[in-house]
Amino acid sequence: MKALILSGGKGTRLRPLTHTGAKQLVPVANKPILWYGIESIVAAGITDIGIIISPETGEEVKSKTGNGERFGANITYILQDKPAGLAHAVKIARPFLDSAPFVMYLGDNLIQNELGEFLNNFKTQNMDALILLRPVPNPTAFGVAEVDEQGRVLHLVEKPKVPPSNLALVGIYFFANSIQSAIDRIQPSARGELEITDAIQNLIDHQKHVEARQIMGWWLDTGKKDDLLEANQIILDAYLKSANAGEVDAQSQLSGRVEIGSGSKLINCTVRGPVTIGEDCHLENCFIGPYSSIADQVTLIDVDLEHSVVLQSAKVIGIHQRIVDSVIGQRAYVHTAPQRPKALRFLIGDDSQIAVV
Ligand code: DAU
Repeated sequence: MKALILSGGKGTRLRPLTHTGAKQLVPVANKPILWYGIESIVAAGITDIGIIISPETGEEVKSKTGNGERFGANITYILQDKPAGLAHAVKIARPFLDSAPFVMYLGDNLIQNELGEFLNNFKTQNMDALILLRPVPNPTAFGVAEVDEQGRVLHLVEKPKVPPSNLALVGIYFFANSIQSAIDRIQPSARGELEITDAIQNLIDHQKHVEARQIMGWWLDTGKKDDLLEANQIILDAYLKSANAGEVDAQSQLSGRVEIGSGSKLINCTVRGPVTIGEDCHLENCFIGPYSSIADQVTLIDVDLEHSVVLQSAKVIGIHQRIVDSVIGQRAYVHTAPQRPKALRFLIGDDSQIAVV
């Protein structure tokens, strides 16, 4: 059994947070979302992993993630020259997959469930495909399945205007090699992509053994700001452990689960967990409230902040109003002018969103 993680695509869908960067590398609780997927695959006992990358963001994914050693896996990178669809990615991965069955994992997805049980079902019941479904309030944004009372999949459709049900296709699939023949039988969709949803439908049309399991635990798809904040909250809640490798002065107070990376200094700060603070950060006279993730090399001075994500090398200085529900991008600089009268002075990039309340 192998794994194929899709980490290519356009690199533009998390605007304005990343125009050019890989959305799969956006950190959730200070760890790239892609890495949770790799860990979950390795935990299910699969260590031969192919990762699809794009020409635009591939180098970044590769240099950050490495050859797999840190995960106890062996990673092969597969370049997809254009984002021609999820099924196209499976097609170009043929030399790597070498006819083996595989789990396909979308690099911006994460689920609460462990993969082991699904994997077992898939293997012991000789399925051609096992898909995961979850009820969602907005099915038009996903692949959608129609199932009968026994849970058998009748019909699948990608981003339908009129959804046949509220059951969305989760971005984690188990496939036998027969998916490749199905991919060869389909045509690109109206949006010009070879859709994996169409390939699975093709398996169904050819009376192949396709099953679905419903999941009820959380499922994260880190597409937008609110999704990212929610993912951050859920992951901090579920996984964060207290650890302090930094320096905390006697005036500072930590409560709840707080993780502090090496080289970070906290001076006169109050931190209420769950909060993770990366490496080489400088925090002075700050209140950091629950569900905050502060990445490496961040400077926060005279700041109140909670339920927020601050990305690498950002600086926030002298903001005397609580910052909440915010995502502050890499290298961003937010500060007040030292002299009065106070005014707001901005240099704000395209597509940014600022709420002055
Ligand atoms: O998140 C679940 C949904 O994922 C499913 O419900 C849909 O049926 C499925 O088509 C997919 O829809 P999205 O529109 O969300 O897929 P997206 O284009 O965001 O791509 C998902 C991942 O695959 C992402 O990490 C980028 C990567 N990708 C995408 C394309 C189109 C590739 O590596 N190559 C590609 O050609």
